[in-house]
Amino acid sequence: MSPFLLTRTLPEDATGAALRADVLHGLTRAPKALPPKWFYDARGSALFEEITTLPEYYPTRAEREILVARAAEIAGITGAHTLIELGSGSSEKTRHLIDAMASLHTYVPVDVSESALTGAANTLLAHRPGLDVHALIADFTRGLALPGTPGPRLVAFLGGTLGNLLPAERAAFLSSVRGLLSPGDALLLGTDLVKDESVLVSAYDDATGVTASFNKNVLSVMNRELEADFDPDTFDHVAVWDRDHEWIEMRLRSTAAQTVKIPALGLAVDFAAGEEMRTEVSAKFRKEGVKAELAAQGLDLTHWWTDERGRFALSLSTPV
Ligand code: SAH
Ligand code: TRP
Repeated sequence: MSPFLLTRTLPEDATGAALRADVLHGLTRAPKALPPKWFYDARGSALFEEITTLPEYYPTRAEREILVARAAEIAGITGAHTLIELGSGSSEKTRHLIDAMASLHTYVPVDVSESALTGAANTLLAHRPGLDVHALIADFTRGLALPGTPGPRLVAFLGGTLGNLLPAERAAFLSSVRGLLSPGDALLLGTDLVKDESVLVSAYDDATGVTASFNKNVLSVMNRELEADFDPDTFDHVAVWDRDHEWIEMRLRSTAAQTVKIPALGLAVDFAAGEEMRTEVSAKFRKEGVKAELAAQGLDLTHWWTDERGRFALSLSTPV
């Protein structure tokens, strides 16, 4: 069995402190909003995996199609010895890439979800014994202290997760990724593309309600971690296409006027009937926009691949 190392870059309670700070800030501002990373406790990660198999949720299948078609090419171009994956989740699609990377020595999955990381590492080690897996529990928006692993390095950021950051957060994030790269390293980025509104909205509001449960899971996280008394049945899942920003916005709408208590924060939060709280954006991209956002942070887009139907793109960029 090859070594599997799980490293926590934050003290055990830092996540609790960060959650309290985010909830305090997000629920006392107008309009109310929460950062999306709090969806992903063990139940949230399991619900997300279920989303990836829904007929309406095309991004996972589209990105997998590109990875299957291009893995050998990506492996050849990068010749990477270390693969670092940010927001790796189950690492399920990544396996296609790992299988094609003959010179790969170390895989560094980075995620806030401990359950996703240990599940992924166990599956991978059974699948590819001999691979060093150094899993990192960390928040990729907070600056990354990565283990000193052999180059060249390929940093992968898949699943369209870049779109879950707001434009200013994307710039800061891409700048910190640029800082991780030396000459000869590369960034592999998965971005969902602008398309027909009805296709987009269905992907975030499926018929069976799995996405609704996922969205509401953030309420259960606050109930458990902050002893809050959110009643998930009094919130509706809402997904709308924002044409100006070209992003899908996920919200939770209070069906009644109510006051929610959050004892861990000494807070009582009023919701008006119909009031909406933003829980996530999922920006959709165009090639020129991706190229420009990368260039602004010193990254040169060298390859752009889409699935057959042009729904999703994988791009490769290198530090300038
Ligand atoms: N890459 C996988 C999972 C995408 S879902 C795929 O393509 O299917 C987004 C993943 O990013 C989840 O596993 C979530 O736990 C993780 N994540 C979200 N915000 C994060 C943050 N700020 N820091 C680290 N991981 C984060
Ligand atoms: N990265 C995923 C995306 O933007 C996350 C996601 C999928 C999501 N479905 C969701 C987030 C529903 C909130 C609600 O596609």
